Amino acid sequence: MLDDLHAVMNKLHEAFAPLKIPPIDLPQIAVVGSQSSGKSSVLESIVGYDFLPRGSGICTRRPLIIQLTCCDVQDYAEFSHLEGRITDFEKVREVIDKETDKVAGKQKGVSEVPLILKFFGRNFPNLSLVDLPGLTMVPVADQPANIGQLIREMVMGFISRPNCIILAVSAANQDIANSDALHTARMVDPDGLRTLGVLTKVDLMDEGTDARDILMGKMYPLRLGYIPVVNRSQKDINDKKPMQESLKAEQLFFENHPVYRNSKFEKGIPMLSKRLSSVLEAHIRTQLPEISKKIKSMLRETQEDLVRYGVRGPSTPFECRSTVMKAIQEFCEKFREAMNGESRRNTY
Ligand code: GDP
Ligand code: NA
Ligand code: MG
Repeated sequence: MLDDLHAVMNKLHEAFAPLKIPPIDLPQIAVVGSQSSGKSSVLESIVGYDFLPRGSGICTRRPLIIQLTCCDVQDYAEFSHLEGRITDFEKVREVIDKETDKVAGKQKGVSEVPLILKFFGRNFPNLSLVDLPGLTMVPVADQPANIGQLIREMVMGFISRPNCIILAVSAANQDIANSDALHTARMVDPDGLRTLGVLTKVDLMDEGTDARDILMGKMYPLRLGYIPVVNRSQKDINDKKPMQESLKAEQLFFENHPVYRNSKFEKGIPMLSKRLSSVLEAHIRTQLPEISKKIKSMLRETQEDLVRYGVRGPSTPFECRSTVMKAIQEFCEKFREAMNGESRRNTY
């Protein structure tokens, strides 16, 4: 049943994506961090494919909503605005680049209009994440002078929503006290209740140092804690090291490390995926009643609008809204079923 809810939640996100301010604050996970902290690497490791545009400077210039769905098919990707399944993941990168240029311009500008990319396959966690541009301050090349502010506003627009879980990415080989991700997250989540810390580049820490103090919450405590990971190095990427090999290498790194080997902390990408799925699931569960209530009142309002405008079938101005409504109706049905299943389970 939760798989269904995940699917419906994805549809709602899709329906709301074109709207500047979403009518309902849906649970979601947004990835924040400074440039080069390892955000793209974390996302690719979670997905298990190399598919994000790479290069120096900002690559992510508009929000990318990545929806992963676990189902019994050969892995493929699909953009919500395009027909057809993509199995060559190089193509995904090309499309992201092209679509970014289209709305944000070729001039390295940014846009807040999200792009939606879905993955289906047997090994994906049921998870949806939003990749956001890196928090950056210094404009490069032909970027607008206020790019830092534009990005900050965009990131804030996402993470200030109370239902947004913040995946704050910081590099372990840099002073955590200077982490842009944690500073930014603290502004909207001062008690660290909905921020999950990810420590990248644990393999690049100075010899003799380790991340124990951070993991134990001694430096910058977060209720959801931190998960240390090891992504591919630039050399691994240049050498086109397969993702599965990198995951294996990460596992070996932690197993052989004198400190992490024996620590009880969750570590590594597979654990991060599991944690994120369960955090998101728990969050969706607690928010369901509220979401359902809002959806019902939206539904009522829209029906009243339709009657007022004398509209019968879907006509152009209402097309967007009718997509929303279809998703909403489906959601309400699933929600009722889920709740019925729940109470049945509770009575046994
Ligand atoms: P983003 O700008 O935050 O998206 O950062 P990227 O994911 O593009 O990573 C920036 C650079 O750091 C790339 O060269 C990555 O290969 C490297 N990198 C990221 N994470 C790790 C890690 O855990 N270990 C090592 N050795 N390199 C990493
Ligand atoms: Na970046
Ligand atoms: Mg990136």
